[in-house]
Amino acid sequence: MAYMAGHTADIARMPRGGFDASCLDRLLETDRPEYLDRDDVDDATKRQVIEALDWTGRFFKTHERFAAIALELLADVADPRILELGAGHGGLSRQLLQDHPSAHVTVSDVDADSVAQIAAGDLGSHRRARVAHVDATEIDAADGSYDLAVFALSFHHLPPAQASRVFAEGTRVADTLLIIDLPRPPAPLHLLRLATMLPAAPFLPFVHDGIISSLRCYSPSALRSLARHADPAITLELRSGLYSPQIVIARRG
Ligand SMILES: C[S@@+](CC[C@H](N)C(=O)[O-])C[C@H]1O[C@@H](n2cnc3c(N)ncnc32)[C@H](O)[C@@H]1O
Repeated sequence: MAYMAGHTADIARMPRGGFDASCLDRLLETDRPEYLDRDDVDDATKRQVIEALDWTGRFFKTHERFAAIALELLADVADPRILELGAGHGGLSRQLLQDHPSAHVTVSDVDADSVAQIAAGDLGSHRRARVAHVDATEIDAADGSYDLAVFALSFHHLPPAQASRVFAEGTRVADTLLIIDLPRPPAPLHLLRLATMLPAAPFLPFVHDGIISSLRCYSPSALRSLARHADPAITLELRSGLYSPQIVIARRG
């Protein structure tokens, strides 16, 4: 019990690798924000990162894979209500609407420019979509409003105290919270991953943000502590591989 209480008190200072992270792993993290999180970066640079994310999602078919993971969780729900948090470009929501004939999707982001861009595109007039400005740490929706909330490639943007709020809020407004994010590899492999990305970082904003994302992604141990801090009644199912995305499925007891 004292162990859990310690976790609760210290969550803001938890290393991204978790309380049990190795010394090397603790060095492989940063407080430096990504371009997407900065107010002093011009919109064109941020847009370049968002468009690159959408392009890779289409080219490598991750939008399709992530939509399949989400829809598998909704196999027993006839007309699912889905909330996409941190949608950025809306590629995942578009895929969900395409792959499920009766799903209703709220496409959201905390970034006003992204919300405006999404609303101005095809999703803005899709009859089963609603575009909204939503902060994943403070969701303006009643308990149980959705069957599923999904937060893809965004969770690492949040420092631990806020990330823990996503577990609390996501499992409050939705029956299931699905987080898909980068895996945090063992420290030596992580070093290798960073080394391969570093040379391109000064030239490509997408790679610059990719390196920071890598340093900020959470380990399975950290994810368990974040969920426990949010509410000990939250149960987690974690799936991850060295190179495949980390899948987190959270529900309340
Ligand atoms: C790396 S992008 C991911 C975009 C998209 N989900 C994807 O898979 O490509 C991260 C997104 O998370 C959003 N974000 C950051 N903090 C957030 C928060 N507190 N609530 C909702 N979205 C947030 C950013 O505005 C950004 O659009």
